[in-house]
Amino acid sequence: MSENLTQLSARKGLKENLFEQMVQAKGDPIRLKDLSKEYKVGEANIYGASTAYDFIQGDNANKKAYVCNGSSCLCAGTQEKVNQQLLEKFDQQQIGHVTCLGRCHENASFQLNGENYSGDDINQLDAIIKNSKQSDENYHVECRLPQPLLTEAIEDTAGYYQLFSKVTGQHNRQELLQQVVDSGLRGRGGAGFPTGFKWQSCANEIAEEKYIVCNADEGDPGAFSDRYLLEERPHAVLFGMLMAGYLSGAQWGVLYIRDEYPDSVSQIQIAIDEFEKLSLLDDLKTDSDFEFQFKIVRGAGAYICGEETALLRSIEGQRPMVSVRPPFPTVKGLFGKPTILNNVETFAAIHWILENSAEKFAAIGNGRSTGSKLLSLDSCFKRPGIYEVAMGEPLANIIEQAGGFVKAIKALHIGGPLGGLIPIEKIADLTIDFESFAEQGFLLGHGSIIGLPKSYDIADYVHHLFEFTEVESCGKCFPCRIGSVRGKEMFADALAGKHLLEKTLLDDLLDTMEQGSLCALGGGVPLPVKNALQYFMPEMQHLFSQPSVQTIHVREA
Ligand SMILES: Cc1cc2nc3c(=O)[nH]c(=O)nc-3n(C[C@H](O)[C@H](O)[C@H](O)COP(=O)(O)O)c2cc1C
Ligand code: SF4
Repeated sequence: MSENLTQLSARKGLKENLFEQMVQAKGDPIRLKDLSKEYKVGEANIYGASTAYDFIQGDNANKKAYVCNGSSCLCAGTQEKVNQQLLEKFDQQQIGHVTCLGRCHENASFQLNGENYSGDDINQLDAIIKNSKQSDENYHVECRLPQPLLTEAIEDTAGYYQLFSKVTGQHNRQELLQQVVDSGLRGRGGAGFPTGFKWQSCANEIAEEKYIVCNADEGDPGAFSDRYLLEERPHAVLFGMLMAGYLSGAQWGVLYIRDEYPDSVSQIQIAIDEFEKLSLLDDLKTDSDFEFQFKIVRGAGAYICGEETALLRSIEGQRPMVSVRPPFPTVKGLFGKPTILNNVETFAAIHWILENSAEKFAAIGNGRSTGSKLLSLDSCFKRPGIYEVAMGEPLANIIEQAGGFVKAIKALHIGGPLGGLIPIEKIADLTIDFESFAEQGFLLGHGSIIGLPKSYDIADYVHHLFEFTEVESCGKCFPCRIGSVRGKEMFADALAGKHLLEKTLLDDLLDTMEQGSLCALGGGVPLPVKNALQYFMPEMQHLFSQPSVQTIHVREA
């Protein structure tokens, strides 16, 4: 992170946002040069930043169609056919790739002219091309609690926001902050950080300018629960951000939404327009000086922008690289100002907490993981979709409710590419909470569940995970930047029969990545690889060299 670049970008801030200008420039060198003069930022900085994104410039930018190459579509084996059918209509140069469109519930996912499609849509290409036919996307939304916390429909938007005036009229800011603390809500973006603590920390900072940022970059292949909330429950997300703004003294609520989710962008924009029509804030201004504005910033295709510090640098128009913490975003965040950054689902939980009480929320779960959690079930389940479950619910119950599997599965990959690979026989040991997954050597993460079919080669899957990390690494630290490449090469060579894997070398590589990486991308990918080695070694044994007789070097006296 460059403090200078942050300050230079801050001069125009969100209103004439450098990142948005850069995206619009689409890599045009003349426009990028102009931007460098306008924002007084070095040409190399602007150029370097714009090359970090798949959809701004480079081999994969400006394609007519994009084929999903995410883990779920890969496991479902649908993409070869999608590619072939697109090739009947378009040249190879017009087709790019994209890592996960969040259509994991039916796979065969692709994007055409900026719209997402999946399932049977590929068989209706002519209609899509002729009439820009909408996708027939369909997925189950089921709740396993007596009363839904996140999946309940919001029928009356104005009535929904009345809670804001009600609670701010009845309680002071500190009392409301305490409710967020007492609820035990922990961040749903993967790390499970206590939300109340984060909000309090930002509220404690004395600054004229503060920001609320919603992390809607849901890049984990297999996850689509944030997409569900953004598209189906957008006011729940906005309400949480509004409340965070009020309690911490922020003026802006920025939603950083990934470019791969065009419908999320449009649904959130509709919701912001509806919110603004309610003029709720005008009433509030009379007895407090609270002003709050929402803004959508649309990503441009870079998984690392889901990591919070990279996301903030992205909005500033810097290259999205991970920053060392501290300082934490609550102290020095967007444009160097105190910032609360939370996941979509975290913000969406706030309305229920304030309406029903922190105690009721805390009473759901196991005491340490509280409230409910959304799970994204992919097409390996008979009833794929979004499942809302109480924290602490056995994983086996959810699989049963989803009707079991459509085909023989050997493992579940839960929590995205950095989450654990859970062999089928371990399912019975797990409950949906942060603790159970950690104790069993896995990770709940964002709660995405991908089924790995029995027929899918486990070494191929490990190769895919290393390749994903290689492509998406921000490059800041060498254990991840180089380690992911070496890991991919090792498995590629072994699979091609060129070079057997050496267990000691692989173990060293995994330990180096795990311990030496700056963030959870390089630090996290060893987990599923280690799970594969622990539970599926017999399947991979033929790819490993046999342990050689140890040579003992005796130093001569
Ligand atoms: C490589 C990487 C990718 C991440 N992607 C996301 C993401 O897509 N969405 C998200 O909310 N958090 C993501 N995170 C976690 C964020 O850095 C951050 O912890 C989270 O957004 C904080 O919000 P929460 O406290 O509400 O969970 C990612 C972290 C890493 C290391
Ligand atoms: S672990 Fe990877 S993504 Fe994270 S800071 Fe290091 S190079 Fe960047």
